[in-house]
Amino acid sequence: MRLEFDDTLPPVTGDRVQLQQVILNLLLNASHAMSGVNDRPRQIVIRTQRDQGDRVRLSVRDAGTGFNPEDIDRLFEAFYTTKTAGMGIGLSVSRAIIESHQGRLWASQNDGPGATFSFSIPRCSENPGAVRIPAVAHAETSSGTLMVKHSLVSVIDDDESVRESLHNLLKQFGYAVEVFSSAEEFLASDSVGRTRCLILDMAMPGMSGPDLQRELTGRRQEIPIVFITANRNETARARVLAQGAVECLFKPFSETVILNALNSALRVSAERL
Ligand SMILES: Nc1ncnc2c1ncn2[C@@H]1O[C@H](COP(=O)(O)OP(=O)(O)OP(=O)(O)O)[C@@H](O)[C@H]1O
Ligand SMILES: [Mg+2]
Repeated sequence: MRLEFDDTLPPVTGDRVQLQQVILNLLLNASHAMSGVNDRPRQIVIRTQRDQGDRVRLSVRDAGTGFNPEDIDRLFEAFYTTKTAGMGIGLSVSRAIIESHQGRLWASQNDGPGATFSFSIPRCSENPGAVRIPAVAHAETSSGTLMVKHSLVSVIDDDESVRESLHNLLKQFGYAVEVFSSAEEFLASDSVGRTRCLILDMAMPGMSGPDLQRELTGRRQEIPIVFITANRNETARARVLAQGAVECLFKPFSETVILNALNSALRVSAERL
């Protein structure tokens, strides 16, 4: 990955977590587009630059498969996907976020192999509609990393493969992660007070996910929870959402879906601080 940041850019006002979510979606897509590439370097270039009209542009350029020019508009439609494990929501959510910042998000084909996805948003003064969220310790942005960092995400699942894959995914995106095989183990740990988001399996031997949710509410330890479950039970889903869970995802879910749910949860967490 190569970073080409223009250090002289004016500040922009925006929702930090939402903009991180957009960049994350673009990076995930770029890395997926290159997953089958073996005959050239798999390189991603993230560039920031000044755009016309005092706007700031960020682009993510990959050396992947690229896309068919006829499909350029469909890429942004909700549920349009060419991936077996894709939901097709990454780009539609990202475009909605950027438009809510009075910006635009578009795709272009590279001269060489691959595609470039870019967005541009106005600088501070022209962007009165954007929300400023309080600067929180977990959402630190330095020039080298654009990801949410240092916020502890705890994963509780009795299935080791789920623990392992979520651990790897979240680590890769810069989160501090701890995994637990049961709700009891989590409660006995010193992570409870430090956890900014809980990814919680519904059905586990011993204390279940909803049991833990109630227990934490009882202790006034209101950690935002993203439930994950292999059982497509809409009633159980509705119940945990009514109890205040941020999301409840049915397995299998794509990386974009879980990362976006996590971002929403961290947003809730930031607002509560
Ligand atoms: N960098 C890219 N290079 C080539 N094609 C892309 C790229 N990014 C997106 N696409 C195409 O656009 C489609 C829609 O992307 P989008 O992010 O909305 O959904 P997804 O990645 O398929 O699934 P999800 O993001 O929900 O996990 C992808 O399935 C892919 O065909
Ligand atoms: Mg995607």
